[in-house]
Amino acid sequence: MKFAYGNWKMSQSLANLQKFFAEFSFKNSNVEVGIFPTALHIPASLSRGYLIGAQDCSTEKEGAFTGELSAQSIKELGAGAVLVGHSERRQRGAETNGSLRKKAERALEAGLKVVFCIGETDAERTAGQTEDVLEDQLTAVDGISSSLIIAYEPVWAIGTGRVASAEDVKSAHQFVWSRTPKALGVLYGGSVKPDNSQVLARIEGVSGFLIGGASLQAGSLTKIAESLV
Ligand code: PGA
Repeated sequence: MKFAYGNWKMSQSLANLQKFFAEFSFKNSNVEVGIFPTALHIPASLSRGYLIGAQDCSTEKEGAFTGELSAQSIKELGAGAVLVGHSERRQRGAETNGSLRKKAERALEAGLKVVFCIGETDAERTAGQTEDVLEDQLTAVDGISSSLIIAYEPVWAIGTGRVASAEDVKSAHQFVWSRTPKALGVLYGGSVKPDNSQVLARIEGVSGFLIGGASLQAGSLTKIAESLV
């Protein structure tokens, strides 16, 4: 199974969401399309024939946690997946390996698919620390990685137009697979576009993509998903 997952972040209006689903019709039994809208837009995204997920969940099951979303409530709403550890959440949410593990566990308990995101910053990459960073981030999911989809997203490639080279993607994916051999898939994310997805899709170890900006329009997500067929 290949995966074409669109992370809509906070970038899609309700009107554009309706337009997207009116135009998007990609279907292929070998490529699972998933859309991760804002949690408020999950209801409007359901019953379209695609996996729908949230962009984050709480470390806690329930209780006095103002503003947080429990994995259980995401599931109850009808969503089927959640992103955990996206770099934008890591940066803004003071995440630790411990908190990310709790989120992944809450999500798995609730019966959600988990896309666990990892990736090095530009400074870490320049310092030659990519594998050390990935290794450290993956310790958060020791023992549960066979239930997860991992998304390798170099932070410096997210939203920048600077896509990682084929060699970098290949070696990072090789490393992630060696560390989590039973993962359900290892996605690449970071400036995936219709004009580079063909090449990226053919790199050994790439099970699909986590796509930000280019997943907002039906036409570009269709082209990217087609490159995985
Ligand atoms: P991008 O975002 O495709 O816009 O670089 C990817 C992501 O953040 O998942």
